[in-house]
Amino acid sequence: MPNLLILHSSGRTNRSVTRALTAQFRDQWQASFPDGGVTERDLVAEACEFVNEAWVAAAFTEEPNRTARMQQVLQVSDGLVDELMAADHVVIGAPLYNFAMPAALKAYFDQIVRVGRTFAFDAEQENPYTPLLPNTPLTVITSAGDGALLPGGALYELNCLEPHLKILASFIGLAEPVFIRVGYDEYQDERHVNSKARAAEALAKHFTHLLERATQPGCAVC
Ligand SMILES: Cc1cc2nc3c(=O)[nH]c(=O)nc-3n(C[C@H](O)[C@H](O)[C@H](O)COP(=O)(O)O)c2cc1C
Repeated sequence: MPNLLILHSSGRTNRSVTRALTAQFRDQWQASFPDGGVTERDLVAEACEFVNEAWVAAAFTEEPNRTARMQQVLQVSDGLVDELMAADHVVIGAPLYNFAMPAALKAYFDQIVRVGRTFAFDAEQENPYTPLLPNTPLTVITSAGDGALLPGGALYELNCLEPHLKILASFIGLAEPVFIRVGYDEYQDERHVNSKARAAEALAKHFTHLLERATQPGCAVC
């Protein structure tokens, strides 16, 4: 049965817009696939370590040449990669923090973007990089304090979160992300209420579309 992996990166818990919407996706998933798996990884409650000297040395040593100590250093990273590889769909809750992704989410990507595991490198090729995930579908739920940082907004060019996530996804073999966006969280006015309502509706439609695709043979969604 299909496996869903949800990654949370909001520092907030109860008041988090992204966590509320990822919960909506999870509930729809569980209703549609009662026997499916759901893994929720809270990247704030259980933060990934920053990569350091020992990690880099281990990750860039080919597997057969790794010492027992190197294998141990990569244990958490390997577990995170295994978890990601086992997912049929990935949902990321990604608030906009200082024009980019939260540090907790970047620390996760630093752990799972791994040569030989999530991408292959061949210096002989014109493009030396090959993604190793099987184009796993990705939904990104994002929220910003301002509305002008969303597509069509006057400050969208300052939004480094979306282009960065797109690059990372294609680099390791996650599919082009579908973004569900909320704006105006700082304002807490009607624009915010409307933006949340539109996002909830867009997310429900997106899920219905995924389900329709899931009934097609050979579908990668689930
Ligand atoms: C540390 C921090 C940095 C933030 N930086 C930005 C920003 O650069 N631009 C913006 O529009 N909102 C910014 N915000 C507001 C959040 O994007 C907004 O509150 C969002 O709803 C947070 O997601 P959450 O509701 O899931 O916690 C920031 C909030 C925090 C806590």
